[in-house]
Amino acid sequence: MPLVEPRSMFERAYREGYAVGAFNVNNMEIIQGIMAAGEEERSPLILQVSAGARKYAGQNYIVKLVEAALLETDLPVVLHLDHGQDFQICKDCVDGGFTSVMVDGSHLPFEENIALTKKVVDYAHEKGVWVEAELGQLAGVEENVSAEKSIYTDPDQAKEFIERTGCDSLAIAIGTSHGAYKFKGEAKLDFNRLETISNLLPGYPLVLHGSSSVPTEFVEMANKYGGEIGAARGVPEELLRKAAGMGICKINIDTDIRLAMTAVIRKHLTENPQNFDPRSYLKPAREAVKLMVQHKIRNVLGSSNKC
Ligand code: G3H
Ligand code: 13P
Ligand code: ZN
Repeated sequence: MPLVEPRSMFERAYREGYAVGAFNVNNMEIIQGIMAAGEEERSPLILQVSAGARKYAGQNYIVKLVEAALLETDLPVVLHLDHGQDFQICKDCVDGGFTSVMVDGSHLPFEENIALTKKVVDYAHEKGVWVEAELGQLAGVEENVSAEKSIYTDPDQAKEFIERTGCDSLAIAIGTSHGAYKFKGEAKLDFNRLETISNLLPGYPLVLHGSSSVPTEFVEMANKYGGEIGAARGVPEELLRKAAGMGICKINIDTDIRLAMTAVIRKHLTENPQNFDPRSYLKPAREAVKLMVQHKIRNVLGSSNKC
């Protein structure tokens, strides 16, 4: 099955009140783990590649690994650029066979964000590629950009932004952030704001970044076997489930996959100090990715048995 663009995935997700998981990938084991989970759950999948992942693995390697995965599945799969910071990286991914790109001008002033997004939309739509944009700023660190405080998305600006750019989906800031340290006090999301935005944009797919839940089990496992992950906290799963029924059609998860892999590798190497064959620890790491993604699909996103 060839790669698909996300339109029909999001239409159904919107209608039925669930979200499609967008999982970050940068190597073979992560891709295989996610694909195995999608197969077992019969769930649509979005595999997304950050600029850092693209630099780490190389665009050709990533695309070819994903193509290899497609030879073995009939699931609908989107290949998406995550946080494209400029026109060139978006163009390179459109030209390289991605079916969706995110242009992230969220760090720019409103008018400059509109200009950059519009330029990417004009180019990508010409080639039938979906464009996600972002308005508002998440706290935390993304490659080359860090924000200390989040700036939540303004609902009226969101409507104007979509009308003027023609972007196909919009990432909004309502209290999530990237990485493993999301909340100091109570974990909460601004559902009133989400509701206002959804009501202004009926049928329009919204995106939630920074949606890892940072399960205690894996923080504890990593720390038990030599990690120093400290007071990590993610978005409670019930908040994500609620968001998925309110117009959020795509939920981004990276940190939880990293955490599961690393915790399991630490455990394996501590318990088997004689092992030095990478397959001996990458195999359980791949299985940990699968179980983590399967849990998300079934219990958080609600996208099981949707294809
Ligand atoms: O949004 C950020 C993603 O988790 C990607 O992170 O830039 O370290 O690959 P990265
Ligand atoms: P997490 O760091 O919460 O996994 O968020 C990932 C993300 O938003 C990728 O774009
Ligand atoms: Zn993100």
